[in-house]
Formats: sequence, C-alpha cells, structure tokens
Amino acid sequence: MKTVLITGASSGFGLETAKLFLEKGWRVVATMRTPRAEILPPSENLDILALDVTNADSIRKAVEAAGPIDVLVNNAGIGWLNAVEGTPMDVVRDLFETNTFGTIAMTQAVLPQFRERRQGVVINVTSSVTLMPLPLLSVYTASKAAVNAFTEVAALELEPFNVDMKIVLPGRAPATSFGDTARSRIQAEGGFPEAYASVVKSVFAKWEEQGDTEITHADDVAQAIWRAATDPSSPMSIPAGADAVALAG
Ligand SMILES: NC(=O)c1ccc[n+]([C@@H]2O[C@H](COP(=O)([O-])OP(=O)(O)OC[C@H]3O[C@@H](n4cnc5c(N)ncnc54)[C@H](OP(=O)(O)O)[C@@H]3O)[C@@H](O)[C@H]2O)c1
Repeated sequence: MKTVLITGASSGFGLETAKLFLEKGWRVVATMRTPRAEILPPSENLDILALDVTNADSIRKAVEAAGPIDVLVNNAGIGWLNAVEGTPMDVVRDLFETNTFGTIAMTQAVLPQFRERRQGVVINVTSSVTLMPLPLLSVYTASKAAVNAFTEVAALELEPFNVDMKIVLPGRAPATSFGDTARSRIQAEGGFPEAYASVVKSVFAKWEEQGDTEITHADDVAQAIWRAATDPSSPMSIPAGADAVALAG
C-alpha cells in the first residue's frame, strides 16, 4: 500500500486530496496545525498528525511519526492581496515562511528516505497566478514563483535518484477558506492603502466580471495531485481547474 503525506489537510484542497487518496486505497498521513479527526472519514488507512510547516521541530516529529512515505504533497499555504506599499514586512516574511520555506523544509525532511529507496514524488501546490501577473498579488506570487523555480531545479539533481518533483497550479477557488483567511488578515493589517483604491476596484471588478463560470474546485486540485502522484509520464507542471487550464493554454 502506498502512503501520501499531505500538509494543510484541515481544509480546502488538502482535505479533498486526503479524501481522494483514501478512496483510492492509499495510506494517508493527513497533517494539520490543529488535528481534527472528525473532518475525515474514519479509516484504518488514515493517520492524522500535528504539523506546522514553519516549525522545524514540528516537521521532524511529524516526518518521524509518519514512517516511510511515497508521496509528499506540499499544500499548506496562506494568501495575501495588497499593494506592495500596503504589505508590512512581517506579512511578507509570514508568506515566505509558510508558502516557500515550509515547502523547502518539508522537501528536505523527506528526501533522505526517497533518495535511499530510489523512489518518491514531491508535489508542490503553487498557483496559476504565477502564469499571469495580477495587480496586488506581488508578494503572494513571488512566494509561489520561488517554489516553481525551486521545484524545477531540484528535479534536475533528483532525477538520478528516481525522485520526481511536480508542480500543481490551481486557479481561483473562492469556495475554500483561503480567501476569507486572507481577507481577515488584510483587514487586521489596516486594509488597502487609499492611494490604490482604483487598482483595488478594478481587480475586484474583473473577478466579478469573470463570475463563477471559470473557477477552480477543490476536486480539480485533488485530481491533478492524484495524476502527479500516480502518472510518471504526467508533465512537471499541471494546471488544476478550468481557469488555470485556460491560462496554461
Ligand atoms: N483557494 C485559492 O484560490 C488558491 C488558488 C491557487 C493556489 N492556492 C494554494 O492552494 C493551497 C491550499 O489552499 P486552499 O484554497 O485549500 O486554502 P485553505 O482552505 O485556506 O487551506 C490552507 C491550508 O494550509 C494550512 N496552513 C496554513 N499555514 C500553515 C502552517 N504554517 N503549517 C501547516 N499548515 C498550514 C491551513 O491550516 P489551518 O487550518 O491550521 O489554518 C489549511 O489547512 C495553498 O498553498 C494556496 O496558496 C489556493
């Protein structure tokens, strides 16, 4: 039986991915900052572990407790939408700590076992915003574009060890708690700077215009992660969701 370890499995894409891999008969190590067993169907193939990807000790303990794994899904992430001028440096650091350094630290933690066994797949969930620049997303996009670059380069040095590196690029998914979490933080940090009011207005107007026709659903992302985990001939970068697929052209 194969094992997947998923970060940020408490909601959204991570939760949906944990459910899909359980349905497919995999052993699932669902990790979350605050473990909540009741959100996943009970299964003897499921382990729920505490993991904060910004904490080295938490990473070491979770990877040790998980035992041998075949696939790591770096899904944990936080969002942010604001002008560069409206983004305090502690927010910049938090975004990179979770989205970028957390992904790198988790990859480092599993590579020794992957390299020794000459098998393993690391799947990094980034974002379709790295395919098309959008105003107010400079810092978030930078944190995710760094992961794309990290993945592409690490893949080259891991190829001789038969370790695969993949990128899944979801589009905009308004149904997960991602937007609400980001919105609360933006409000808590003082909102958008007045000088950027018209930029903010045009960004929201564009999303309004797009409506809910071309968006991403959690299941699109889970399916893309499944493909990345199980199909060695799949491309290194896989867009997930109608909008992301359209962008990737
Ligand atoms: N939704 C979108 O529009 C969208 C689009 C493109 C890409 N993405 C990316 O997709 C991934 C999942 O997003 P989602 O939409 O499913 O959002 P979500 O529902 O907010 O889920 C994010 C998950 O990350 C976890 N997390 C945050 N900080 C963490 C940390 N330090 N350590 C461990 N876990 C942490 C959260 O855990 P807690 O419950 O503990 O907060 C939560 O489980 C993220 O990497 C995000 O950047 C999202």
